[in-house]
Amino acid sequence: MKRILVTGGLGYIGSHTVVELQAAGYKVVIIDNLSNSTMDVLDGIAAISSERPDTEILDLRDKEKVHTFFNDYNNIEGIIHFAASKAVGESVENPLLYYENNVGSLVYLLKECRDRGIENFIFSSSCTVYGQPDTLPITEDAPVKPAISPYGNTKQISEEIIRDLSHASNLRAISLRYFNPIGAHGSAEIGELPKGVPQNLVPYITQTAAGIREELSVFGNDYPTPDGSCIRDYIHIVDLAKAHVIALQRLISKENTDDFEIFNVGTGKGSSVLEVIHAFEEVTGNKLNYKIVDRRPGDVISVYADTGKANRVLGWKAEKTMEEALASAWAWEKKVRGIQ
Ligand code: NAD
Ligand code: WQD
Repeated sequence: MKRILVTGGLGYIGSHTVVELQAAGYKVVIIDNLSNSTMDVLDGIAAISSERPDTEILDLRDKEKVHTFFNDYNNIEGIIHFAASKAVGESVENPLLYYENNVGSLVYLLKECRDRGIENFIFSSSCTVYGQPDTLPITEDAPVKPAISPYGNTKQISEEIIRDLSHASNLRAISLRYFNPIGAHGSAEIGELPKGVPQNLVPYITQTAAGIREELSVFGNDYPTPDGSCIRDYIHIVDLAKAHVIALQRLISKENTDDFEIFNVGTGKGSSVLEVIHAFEEVTGNKLNYKIVDRRPGDVISVYADTGKANRVLGWKAEKTMEEALASAWAWEKKVRGIQ
């Protein structure tokens, strides 16, 4: 049976996607180097799926090991490439780490695709490529803006590399531009577990509610938005994971109309930071300790997706609400911390 390679399959989005792939009948092999995940995630996946995917612990920056992997697994039908470093601030301090890990590894993987005739490739891109868009909601035709961080730049460069190879080989690729993924699997067997202090809003909220962080800082309430806080498009992780399965199916069945296609993956609805906080309080019954502080450098004001293309062309639509996502994030946080 052919397999789907999921790089970064033990990470947050990768693990949820592995579950959905297995549910759809795909046989999966994971590559991960555990730089931002742990082997426990495999237990969570197995608990949900009753299937433990083959997993190779290796670093995609190791070109020789990547080559050997493809010699050992010579039946890869498609690749979903999640593995990357993703901390925006760290990328400013250590840009070469980001260019090597996110761009260098991608080149090695694509070489193997070209040399071995692996045709189906899904890439984890980000709404960060749009910067602060001129119009909202954002369509896929919106211009890519100069990147604010090396991390964002790696996503732009990666898309260009994949596009170029798709024109020069048999590669068919889809770039999914994620908006803000949040939440956890409904079973609470897998979820988001950032190492160290969370950079993203929802894990910071759940850790504050769990008593691990004293107080949530809201970065600015003087933006030109209805309540003054920034607006994002928060998408449930399970909806996002399902989009990958549908995109992969499109490539495998050769339904794609271009060798390189781009889709926004969001809900189409913008929510402010304060709305997220209040929804969390409502859904969980927790009162959150938060205070308004200065704006965070580099934050864009308002970003949410036009999901029309994904709805029409992929037949995919986000189904879960932000309330469900926040409830699942809290259930996961409680499980991890042993809170009743
Ligand atoms: P994550 O850190 O949870 O998962 C990434 C996984 O890749 C980790 O398990 C890590 O150990 C692994 N990895 C990293 N470098 C590797 C390497 N060189 N070799 C092998 N494994 C390696 O991150 P995530 O949130 O699941 O993000 C997955 C992808 O989606 C990334 O490409 C990220 O840039 C992109 N993305 C994430 C978000 C978000 O908000 N989470 C938004 C847009 C795009
Ligand atoms: C959301 C909102 C913050 C934390 C980042 C990356 C982006 C993408 C997703 C990968 C913002 C506010 C946050 C906190 C707060 N990743 N906030 N207090 O900034 O939209 O995007 O993650 O591609 O590239 O930049 O997400 O979760 O960090 O912030 O007030 O403690 O919450 O200012 O308005 P963001 P986020």
